[in-house]
Amino acid sequence: MNNNIVVAIDGFSSCGKSTIAKALAKKLNFVYVDTGAMYRAVTLYFLRNEVDVTNQTQVETALNNIHISLKTTDGQVSIFLNDEDVSEEIRQMHVASNVSKIAAIPAVRHAMVKQQQLMGKSINIIMDGRDIGTTVFPDAQVKLFMTADPKIRAERRYKELVVKQPDITMEEVFENLALRDHDDTTRKESPLVQAADAIVLDNSYLTPDEQLEFALNKIKPFIKE
Ligand code: DC
Repeated sequence: MNNNIVVAIDGFSSCGKSTIAKALAKKLNFVYVDTGAMYRAVTLYFLRNEVDVTNQTQVETALNNIHISLKTTDGQVSIFLNDEDVSEEIRQMHVASNVSKIAAIPAVRHAMVKQQQLMGKSINIIMDGRDIGTTVFPDAQVKLFMTADPKIRAERRYKELVVKQPDITMEEVFENLALRDHDDTTRKESPLVQAADAIVLDNSYLTPDEQLEFALNKIKPFIKE
């Protein structure tokens, strides 16, 4: 049995999971793995190569040809798809609007979960996603389940998006979030659910510093000096 510490952070879209995960990783000198970025990179590969998702052979062949790696430099995480830095492109709309569909394919999930489990096998790690505390690392020492008032999440997301897309409306953002929550929680293969032993962190009215302090207090008992 390995002695490395695994911190699993799951929760809804636009809850600030990656913000807290990055801050924790920096503070504790753990490796941060953004699993959403991995599903986005797979989606980008499928789109570029026009993989027919109804064709099992094509899906399997594509997965065998995908190599994903993550690199952190000065707190910034870059994601590489077959050695190409795709960190910017995976955030674009054509990827965002297709990722739920690709992330629901069982073969895709199996391949990603396998890789994620390898990543957290021997090093201290903070991993965020939807199924980390339930499927990827059910034995993680610390599991956080993040949530926030849907209206507050939509406002946060709107503020981010409107800078680049001035025509976007609050209603559109709210509806898109509601749809993603629905897709994430109702899909057949490892849906987003709170693990029985997860600690809920509702950050609707918490500052980033307050969230960090809350999480650090949960993790510190597992760190041996
Ligand atoms: O966290 P994010 O918005 O970058 O995630 C992108 C998509 O991937 C989102 O639709 C949920 C899905 N996802 C998933 O199914 N399982 C994970 N562990 C992480 C993300």
